[in-house]
Amino acid sequence: MQPLATKFHELFGSDPNIIATAPGRVNLIGEHVDFLDGFVLPFAISDVTTVAIAKNSSGKIRTASIQKKGAISTIESTQLKPKSGEAWTRYPVGVIWALGIDSGLDILIDGHVPLGAGLSSSAALECAVATAINELFNLGLALPELSRAAQRAENVYVGMPCGIMDQSVSLMATEGNALLLDTRDLSTEQIPFDIAPLGLELLVIDTQVHHALVDGGYAERRASCEKAIADLNIKSLRDISIADFVSRRNKLDDKTYLRAFHGVTEMKRVLDAVTLLKTGDFVGFGEIVTAAHISLRDNYTVSCPELNLAVDTALKFGALGSRMIGGGFGGSAIALIKAKDSELVKSEIRSEFMKARFKGPRFFSALPSAGAKVIL
Ligand code: GLA
Repeated sequence: MQPLATKFHELFGSDPNIIATAPGRVNLIGEHVDFLDGFVLPFAISDVTTVAIAKNSSGKIRTASIQKKGAISTIESTQLKPKSGEAWTRYPVGVIWALGIDSGLDILIDGHVPLGAGLSSSAALECAVATAINELFNLGLALPELSRAAQRAENVYVGMPCGIMDQSVSLMATEGNALLLDTRDLSTEQIPFDIAPLGLELLVIDTQVHHALVDGGYAERRASCEKAIADLNIKSLRDISIADFVSRRNKLDDKTYLRAFHGVTEMKRVLDAVTLLKTGDFVGFGEIVTAAHISLRDNYTVSCPELNLAVDTALKFGALGSRMIGGGFGGSAIALIKAKDSELVKSEIRSEFMKARFKGPRFFSALPSAGAKVIL
């Protein structure tokens, strides 16, 4: 029997009806544009969150997690309303709410995507639950619909105004590929990202600075972009060329201009990066990745000293490109490095962090992995 099924039985006294997993992600490029109709290029990592679920006849949703030592949090299934229940249960329960399910359920979570590391542990949890519920209740929803439901759970039930990237890649990723996602219509193209035979490695540097995106910095940046759209009287930052945007600078205050400038230029960077990947130009690709970091740091202002030090050190020791990923204010950076330099880059970053009296970073190497699936 699945170890999680055994634990489930110990805790709830029955067997799960279904078990599903969903991965976290890294994002190669396309940051803070997934709520602006932009393109993004994330891939799923091999760390997953697994959920075991069974229907019960008590009318209650009982949620537990291995990482919380199995303590059970209970809520009436007929009384789900945004922001109700213990904070950590709002991700799974929010998905049940967003999918319109009104049934007693037992849920056991086993999360292996590091929390607060900018690797989308929340989307992994939401998407594992969405995948399980879709199957358990024969909802027949396609992946874009599941992705939108998971996003609605996070936007409304949790209260974090995220875009659609993390949920989409957690559901739609395929092994060996990055996912080019058009966040306007959720159309996708799988872009091969097979770097090992080229002697390259995608190093993830978790700064161990834990971010809480519900805090306001993320929402505030998003609001600036929405203000730019209103002030320029356009439908979307997607529909304006860089030249046109720059020529209308006098319509925006400086802060709004810089933040929206990040969005407009980042959308172009993603498409340029994909063209370079398709021609195998990893040097050019790396340069664009680094340009994205500079824009996130200086224009969008969501980086932090730890992320900047990780990026600068990786570049100093030979990385082809490096940048912060995800929401920012902490979390992880990526560096595209020659695999033979891996130990050197890690030890230099470690020693720079020590000199700066930052907490020791964690490292891992990321490979494009599969999206969510039912495993039992
Ligand atoms: C977080 C959000 C995503 C996206 C990124 C930044 O991960 O959940 O929707 O906006 O930040 O690209």
